Amino acid sequence: MAINHSPFSLLAEAEPAYQQWRAWKLSTYPKVASELLVSIENPFVLTKKERSELSKCFIRANMAIYAINIGSDFTDKKIVQKIGQDFGLNRLDDNLGADSDSITSLQVIEGGRKQGYIPYSNLKLSWHTDGYYNLPEEQIRGIILHCANTAAEGGENALLDHEMMYIHLRDQDPAYISALMKTDVLTIPPNIENGVEIRGSQSGPVFSVDEKSGTLHMRYSARKRNIIWNDDEITTKAVNAIDDFLASDSPWILRHRLEPGQGLICNNVLHNRTSFKNDDVGEQQRLIYRGRYYDRLAETSFNDTVHAMSL
Ligand SMILES: [Fe+2]
Repeated sequence: MAINHSPFSLLAEAEPAYQQWRAWKLSTYPKVASELLVSIENPFVLTKKERSELSKCFIRANMAIYAINIGSDFTDKKIVQKIGQDFGLNRLDDNLGADSDSITSLQVIEGGRKQGYIPYSNLKLSWHTDGYYNLPEEQIRGIILHCANTAAEGGENALLDHEMMYIHLRDQDPAYISALMKTDVLTIPPNIENGVEIRGSQSGPVFSVDEKSGTLHMRYSARKRNIIWNDDEITTKAVNAIDDFLASDSPWILRHRLEPGQGLICNNVLHNRTSFKNDDVGEQQRLIYRGRYYDRLAETSFNDTVHAMSL
C-alpha cells in the first residue's frame, strides 16, 4: 500500500493519505478495553505469542493492558523495568516524585513534599497526557502503569488513543489541528515551591509529529488553573471541542480498572483516573508503579502502521 504523505499533514495533497489511514484506524480501534487485555504467564520471559499480541494492540490503539497470571509477585518493581525493556522503553524520566530506580510508586501519601499533589491522593485525576510540562527534548513518549495493589473501591482509568482525538477534531474542523500544532499554543507557568522555582515555564504544541518515527505525539492537560492557552477564537473552540469529547460517553473512550498484576503499557495516550477508597485497615491499598519514558514503544513507527494496513 503506497502512502506518500503523512496522514498528520494538512496539505491538500496529503488528504487521501489521511482518509486512507482514518478508515483503517476506525475499523481496527477496539470497541471495549477488554480487547486490549493480553495474558502473560511470566513477565520476565515473554513468549513470542504474548509479544506479538501486545504489539498488535499497540498498532491498533497505541496501548495494551497486560495481565500477569497468578503466581508472580505483583509488587516486584522489576516487572516494570523488564516489560519496558522488552519493548524498547529504556530511558526513564527521573521526575520529582520518582523512587531511586526512577520508577514512581503512586499511592496515597499524607504529609511531606508529595502532599498536595493529586497523583498521591485518592482524588480523581483529570484528563491528561504525562509530562506536558517537560522540555521538548524530554517529552514522555511511553508509559507503564503497573498495578501492584488495588483500592477497595474506584480508581478506574479512562483511556483514549490520542490519534482518535486527532481524528475527532480534524473531522470537526482542520483549523483546530492547525491551532493545536502551533508551538506556543499551550504554556505551563513555572512550578514554584516555597518561593523557589523548581521548573521553568514551558510552552509547546498540543499535537506534534515525531520526525524520526512519523508518529503523532500529544501534550495536553484538562486542568483549568496554571495553564495558559493561546488567546484566540479558534484555539478556544478547539480546546472546548477536546473537553466536550473527553466528557462525552463516546465508545472510543475505553474504561478499565487495573487489577493487581495488570498494567497499561502505552505511547502516552490520553488518560484519567476516578477517585478511589482504600481499606481503612485492610489490605486493599492502591499502589501503582509508574514508569515514564522518553522512548516510544518499539515497532510502532508510522511505517509499522503502514505495514499493518497492508495486511
Ligand atoms: Fe498520567
